[in-house]
Amino acid sequence: MKNNAMKIENLCKSFGKGDSKVDVIDGANFTLNKGEFVALVAPSGSGKTTLLMMLGCVLEPTSGKITIGEEVVYDNKWLVKDDRELRRKKIGFIFQHHYLIPFLNIEENVTLLPYQNKEDPKVVKPRVKEIMDYLDMHDKMKSMPSELSGGQNQRIAIARALANQPDIILADEPTAALDKQRAVSVVQMLKKITRERGVTIIMVTHDDRLLPYCDKVLTIKDKKIDIKTNEELKDAII
Ligand SMILES: Nc1ncnc2c1ncn2[C@@H]1O[C@H](COP(=O)(O)OP(=O)(O)O)[C@@H](O)[C@H]1O
Ligand SMILES: [Mg+2]
Repeated sequence: MKNNAMKIENLCKSFGKGDSKVDVIDGANFTLNKGEFVALVAPSGSGKTTLLMMLGCVLEPTSGKITIGEEVVYDNKWLVKDDRELRRKKIGFIFQHHYLIPFLNIEENVTLLPYQNKEDPKVVKPRVKEIMDYLDMHDKMKSMPSELSGGQNQRIAIARALANQPDIILADEPTAALDKQRAVSVVQMLKKITRERGVTIIMVTHDDRLLPYCDKVLTIKDKKIDIKTNEELKDAII
């Protein structure tokens, strides 16, 4: 159990009521370990974002159970007292677009959430410096988002997600706006983070070329989750 980053049991989500009710996820089960790099691949409209938002405690499921680390956060209802605090402290988000705040410099963007969490600047500053060194972006602290390239801004979005020291990072098509080379560099960076920091990353992607970097691949099949290790996937392709 200690090695579990996230466990999902019989998770369901439908939208609407009566005749217009649509079941998107209907009985999803899976467990992810700490430090795993997981891809989520499925056709458009099949529920990837919906699943990610439930795992991130942003969207309320219809039923089921979500355990993050040792904590049951949802069991047919939210069990956490403060879901915003849970999100801020345990979960980082990266999106297709970086959503950096254009009028704040890079350092201010990356430190925004820790300061919202009322963390001490004496602790935050060295941590953010370390993350920026790690991502090879230390010389960009005082730059504005508009001065950086798409790939660089996406690295800053990773830095921002890491700044809270989350256990889990949820990334919704983080490389979709990048060319192949930059996409690979971002994915290599994400993989390194799982290996070196024990963070579990779930990444939605449409790009099959990125799958070899991942440990497991989740797909949505019949509104349920199908999970394959990278090894099984290779066998299936061959
Ligand atoms: N807030 C919502 N209200 C109603 N239907 C929604 C809502 N969000 C998503 N859906 C529906 O759920 C399905 C899955 O959507 P989504 O999770 O965005 O898919 P994906 O990310 O795989 O493209 C779609 O049919 C979409 O129309
Ligand atoms: Mg989506």
